[in-house]
Amino acid sequence: MSTKSEFASKFGLVAATVGSAVGLGNVWRFPAEAQSNGGSAFLLLYILCVLFLGIPVMLAEFSLGRGSKSDAIGSFLHFSPGKKWWIVGALSVLASYLIMSYYMVVAGWTLEYLVESIGGGLYEGTAGIGHEELRGVFSAKMDEYISSPVRPVIYTLLLIAINIGILLGGVQKGIERLSNVMMPLLFVILAVMCVVSLMLPNAGEGVKYFLAPDFSKINASTVINALGQAFFSLSLGMGILITFASYYPRDTRLTRTSVTVAMASLLVAVMVGLIIFPAIKSFGLDNEPLEGATLVFVTLPEIFVRLPLAQLWSALFFILLFVAALTSSVSIAEVSIATVQDRLKWSRRTATLAMLLPLTVISTLCALSFSDLSSVKIFGLTIFDFLDRFTTDILLPLVSLGVCIYVGWFAPRNLLRDQLTNEGTLHSPMSRVFLLIIRYIAPLLIAMIFINNYL
Ligand code: PFF
Repeated sequence: MSTKSEFASKFGLVAATVGSAVGLGNVWRFPAEAQSNGGSAFLLLYILCVLFLGIPVMLAEFSLGRGSKSDAIGSFLHFSPGKKWWIVGALSVLASYLIMSYYMVVAGWTLEYLVESIGGGLYEGTAGIGHEELRGVFSAKMDEYISSPVRPVIYTLLLIAINIGILLGGVQKGIERLSNVMMPLLFVILAVMCVVSLMLPNAGEGVKYFLAPDFSKINASTVINALGQAFFSLSLGMGILITFASYYPRDTRLTRTSVTVAMASLLVAVMVGLIIFPAIKSFGLDNEPLEGATLVFVTLPEIFVRLPLAQLWSALFFILLFVAALTSSVSIAEVSIATVQDRLKWSRRTATLAMLLPLTVISTLCALSFSDLSSVKIFGLTIFDFLDRFTTDILLPLVSLGVCIYVGWFAPRNLLRDQLTNEGTLHSPMSRVFLLIIRYIAPLLIAMIFINNYL
């Protein structure tokens, strides 16, 4: 019988998968995308993309993982031995490894900001000064925290060490235990911050901007951006969902799980919007660009400093960001660890160390690409930007396309139906619709994202 690890409880399984999905994509990328794509119009499209494309593609990944009870490469080998489909799995492992190497750096920043919020360093020299000066102070701090050659490296290494500590514990005692505590904490913090933000003067204006649909803003590029955001924020194409589903027990209801995960991820994005848009409207900062790093490290601290109990809100927010980043980082690290564990039959310990120790070098290079290595360019991009672009623009759509074509056309007939019905013991009226989307609609739209990236 298989000795494959499994999640211990339903709650833990959902918490871990939600933990992976809810990451910097929701908290950091979503508001910026929403702002540059017309606010509420984008939200609507994003919701549609999550529901009608994200869920079916998620189910394709779940079916591969749970059906084979194997890692991202092993699942393709299991269903199509002797064929080349395992290359799709190998690309997902490559994507996950490269994403992990720069994600550790970003996750390190969140910890650095958390420490500086609690210690007060972030707010030194901000008493009683106006908007322009505040922006100057926070931009200078961002330079110091991110673009200096020592501090970000230390925090990146710390993050890798924390990940190793958790991942050595394995699926149940590491990932699941972490998620069981962190996910409820994340939702509590979000709820508290939503209430605070919605009570600010003029908050209604921000809510209106975010929630009242304006259909005139919808065009082809909004649709494609919404689709890209939906796929990224559900962790599709990274091998994570295949790997996690291989730890799902045979009686887990996949459709229900995918809907729960998608809803939780949507809920977080909406709550983040309800924190950020009212706050920036209320303080008249809505014309500042919400581009990821500036939003989180300059605009939000400016808002916190104007609130009573600035350090408390700041610490809570950076705990939120850190928790989101940490649970995502362990999930992405699990992809390559599981692969070498299953393929090479290495112990958990050897696999974890063999995958994460080299990161100390690769991630350090990424961290330094904001300082000492900023002149090192690959195709005109810094190391960090190159890894980000290469994975999100090329590898992720390619893997999702491969997964859809494989599950839709080449995997054993009935793989999807068998998995969605738990081998015929459940009723799954939607499985035909999902198959239709996986076969025709999703590949077409993913191909469009791909082409759009080159236009
Ligand atoms: N869904 C994740 C997010 O929104 O941040 C995507 C992700 C990125 C997962 C990076 C894991 C990761 F390391």
